[in-house]
Amino acid sequence: MTDTDTAARPESLTSLLAARRSIRRYRPEPVPGEVVQRLVQAAAFAPSAHNRQPWRYVVIEDAAAKARLARAMGQRLAEDRTRDGDDAEAIRLDVERSFARIAGAPVVILACLTLGEMDAYPNPQRREAEFLMAVQSTAMATQNLLLAAHAEGLGACWLCAPLFCPQTVRGALALPADWQPQGLITLGYPEQPGKARPRKSLADILLVAEVGRGSA
Ligand SMILES: Cc1cc2nc3c(=O)[nH]c(=O)nc-3n(C[C@H](O)[C@H](O)[C@H](O)COP(=O)(O)O)c2cc1C
Repeated sequence: MTDTDTAARPESLTSLLAARRSIRRYRPEPVPGEVVQRLVQAAAFAPSAHNRQPWRYVVIEDAAAKARLARAMGQRLAEDRTRDGDDAEAIRLDVERSFARIAGAPVVILACLTLGEMDAYPNPQRREAEFLMAVQSTAMATQNLLLAAHAEGLGACWLCAPLFCPQTVRGALALPADWQPQGLITLGYPEQPGKARPRKSLADILLVAEVGRGSA
């Protein structure tokens, strides 16, 4: 590697980070299996608490399997919204939209976590911290996957819906008992470039700690 390569790297990473968008509509062509494998490999490069690598992924490309998952999730969505007292037509449209997004994506990847190799504590507070570390690790891995997808010219979007119906997702995909659904990634070649969403300014999110600040 030359000095020029090293110097070029941070900028290309920054451009990659800045140009990634959540992409929700895809062209119908399939994503080659080896590309999907590369994305999951990218996820697996992520750091993780105690290096336990609690992330697990399910790749769903089969049209019938996608439709089964989308139908089951839609049914659960309708039940929840009906219980909330929402308008029947609004629910129908929401279910239709959700079905189209999941069943219509060329590839869907379910991100899960397992606590199987995380530390087990009798104390609820430490148990919660360990769970959060598994969530954080899985989110970091999945961000790798999203960035790798962008670098491959693919579009992707994280859907939070599985968090609201984990048992439904588990049943539809016959997941191992300890795999906890965290998010659904829809994936494909973008139909259009994504829209840039606003970001908070550094002034909004950054506090530079100064000597004398704080109580200790
Ligand atoms: C944890 C998480 C959950 C999300 N859930 C959804 C979702 O359910 N539906 C959706 O359309 N986008 C979802 N998104 C995508 C966000 O809406 C998106 O990242 C945000 O609006 C910023 O846009 P950008 O990704 O294009 O920069 C989710 C993103 C994250 C990180």
